[in-house]
Amino acid sequence: MRPPFTQVDSLGFGKHFTDHMFTMRYNEELGWYKGKISKLEPFALHPAASVFHYSQEIFEGLKAYLSEDEKVLLFRPEENARRMNRSARRLCMPEIPEELFLNALNELISLEKQWIPKAPGTSLYIRPAMMGVEAFLGVRSSKEYLFYIILSPVGPYFKEGFKPVGIYVEDQMARAIPGGVGDIKAGGNYAASLLAGHRAQELGYSQVLWLDAKEHRYLEEVGAMNVFVVFGSTLVTPPLTGSILPGITRDSVLKLAQSMGYKVEERLISIDQVLEGVAHGAVTEVFGSGTAAAISPVGSLFYKGKNYVIGNNRVGDITQAIYDRLTAIQYGKVKDEFGWVREINPK
Ligand code: PLP
Ligand code: COI
Repeated sequence: MRPPFTQVDSLGFGKHFTDHMFTMRYNEELGWYKGKISKLEPFALHPAASVFHYSQEIFEGLKAYLSEDEKVLLFRPEENARRMNRSARRLCMPEIPEELFLNALNELISLEKQWIPKAPGTSLYIRPAMMGVEAFLGVRSSKEYLFYIILSPVGPYFKEGFKPVGIYVEDQMARAIPGGVGDIKAGGNYAASLLAGHRAQELGYSQVLWLDAKEHRYLEEVGAMNVFVVFGSTLVTPPLTGSILPGITRDSVLKLAQSMGYKVEERLISIDQVLEGVAHGAVTEVFGSGTAAAISPVGSLFYKGKNYVIGNNRVGDITQAIYDRLTAIQYGKVKDEFGWVREINPK
């Protein structure tokens, strides 16, 4: 039963789940089989299931938005389907035909439409996930998989909402290495990031900004977002070197910003360059981009014991403009000139 979500604040992120889920099984003989929607309930998995031991697990994250005229809109869901398959290939897991993935989303979301919250800034977060479930303890890829989709009505990812967040820059640990799995959505990447996340929290910061693993010098990405640094009216973001997640929001921001007349660059950005730029006024804004947070202004960076305030800890004009434009497209408020939005067929 859907509770009455009257207050955005009470929603939070990822705390509530809808009544149903989509599940599908895979084995080598049958391929994908038994795709079905059923009541959301716990799984029974063998304690030797490979996911529990060797972390063969990947996931995706996207959202369904309710427009003012109550249409249910998805934002570039094919990109999530493609990225899921890229993740699957890297971890030797079976791919899911794109159409199957998109149909499952469509069916489940249209069934759970009443769960999509209406307040501004809220949406229905969609979490597809896949894991190896064969009961076998040797180290090799599983021969059996479980794919599922669950739905969670959400408010803002950060408790601050669309306000500047403080970010802790990690200068010792690394999230991902060249040639590793940092560029796919593997659950293990997030486990590896937790300790730095705790450090950030202890110091009063919302998330971690990761630097490259080799020199601890170049910006990579934030815990759940890609990062943009604004130099004047040029938006700069690190290139996809293989150790950061190719964010769908990142790609959309690059395209949107260009269409809005800003210059964009994908190039290495050192932390020194950012901090110097902040000190001398060359860097006016920093923001993160991701599905969960949409666009998140960064108001301060904590690096090697010192706090650096960006743009007087206020939302910058460019960050605001990108946020407004992106969310207007996602919620169907303006014409979608990029062809990014997909409407869910109502039941
Ligand atoms: N980087 C990481 C580590 C993430 O978890 C996410 C969230 O999905 C992103 C970046 C942003 O990706 P997207 O814009 O596709 O949500
Ligand atoms: C997303 O933005 O979809 C994410 O996956 C971020 C985080 C919740 C892991």
